Amino acid sequence: MPSDTLTITDNRTGKTIEVPIEHGTVRATDLRQLRLDAQDFGIITYDPGYMNTGSCRSRITFIDGDQGILRYRGYPIEQLAEESTHLECSWLILNGELPVRSDLTAWENDIVNNMAVNEAFKPFFNSLWHDAHPMGMLQAAIAALGTFHAPSKKVHDRGERAKHIRNLIAQVPTLAAYAYRHNAGLPFVGPDSMLSYTGNFLNMMFSRGDTRHRPHQVLERALDILFILHADHEQNCSTSTMRMVGSAQTDPYAAVSAASAALYGPLHGGANEAVLTMLREIGNKENIPEFIKGVKEGQGRLMGFGHRVYKNYDPRARIVKKCAEEVFEVTGRNPLIEVAAELERIALEDEYFIRRKLYPNVDFYSGVIYEAMGFPTEMFTVLFAVARTVGWLAQWEELITDSDQKIARPRQVYLGEEIRDYVAIDKRD
Ligand code: ACO
Repeated sequence: MPSDTLTITDNRTGKTIEVPIEHGTVRATDLRQLRLDAQDFGIITYDPGYMNTGSCRSRITFIDGDQGILRYRGYPIEQLAEESTHLECSWLILNGELPVRSDLTAWENDIVNNMAVNEAFKPFFNSLWHDAHPMGMLQAAIAALGTFHAPSKKVHDRGERAKHIRNLIAQVPTLAAYAYRHNAGLPFVGPDSMLSYTGNFLNMMFSRGDTRHRPHQVLERALDILFILHADHEQNCSTSTMRMVGSAQTDPYAAVSAASAALYGPLHGGANEAVLTMLREIGNKENIPEFIKGVKEGQGRLMGFGHRVYKNYDPRARIVKKCAEEVFEVTGRNPLIEVAAELERIALEDEYFIRRKLYPNVDFYSGVIYEAMGFPTEMFTVLFAVARTVGWLAQWEELITDSDQKIARPRQVYLGEEIRDYVAIDKRD
């Protein structure tokens, strides 16, 4: 009779143990039964980069990387991008179900009415260097936002959590826009409760003087779709950072600031900025073969390609590519799209990329859209952070309410020196 267990024999001692398999996983701590003697700590798993370690049980986002499937709370990303809005998806991601109309209206009003940040943020941003990177400014500002909300430390209080989740979703866009305006040397523009979430963000970014910025509907919708696509992506680097920091019962502002620091890296959310830099360096289609040759020889990576989980076309990249065409009908064609499309074509036919299952990820085409919409390259990862804030917070809520979770504290395999005596400085070689 097959049983849901795994039998392991430790050939060092001959001991055999049988451990339960649940949801296709075994508990790493079960391996501790395999010890050389009573003093031995027992076997631990070694998994740099968490290639094969489940850190939590989650009900939020499902990815099948081989099939190229992404779903939030069971709903396919393609349907959400087509039919939903970022705020509706945020509700879904946070609450597990699509909202009824009255809940959605109340949620939209609650967010839009709470987008204003304390006046103290104006001198805060102005104290930073004029060309400070907006991601650095955003991280600092999100951490600073927490200092206005001391009760957010009550992480086991459901009502407090809900309030600060709402605050962060509402105010991260405002801080993001402030970071841009500081770089641009423009006066800060606060939120306008008559505008939508995304419309508000665009207005806070691009309004000039007293005139309200009226984005083209296609562009506002395109940005909202990009926000939907970036809203959550299960246990990626920044989300795992959110959970890691949150596991110490740190307040959500500090944890979101830490998560955005992880996102900033070029191997993660910083890739969208790196893609544009790469496309500009390549310059035109004729230079692509030489560039690809360099990548294959190990001189850097093809940014926006490859993914830890997707070993197939990232479903978000397909939607972004389609979205790009709609945006270009309004803004005119970004010439870098031709370079990107040709780069993709050549890479997908190349043995190096085929063998390693490297496909475009969400960031390969998002930058060309952002650029066409008028966002400076340094803002690309900031846009990602605005959208991902909801995912980080939903995962944080799940962590805090999961009785299985403990403070995150991995083990190490110590390979350093054994004990030795201190040597006085004049006796050292
Ligand atoms: N260009 C060229 N080669 C690549 C690329 C790439 N973009 N990505 C992976 N490879 C190669 C590696 O060199 C390695 O080759 P090898 O087996 O000969 O050593 C093999 O593919 C496997 O790569 P790993 O680095 O082991 O894969 P991992 O899962 O650790 O990394 C990552 C995933 C970080 C996304 C990687 O593909 C990468 O660096 N991509 C470029 C940066 C990027 O676009 N990041 C955004 C990811 S999506 C997101 O975070 C929103």
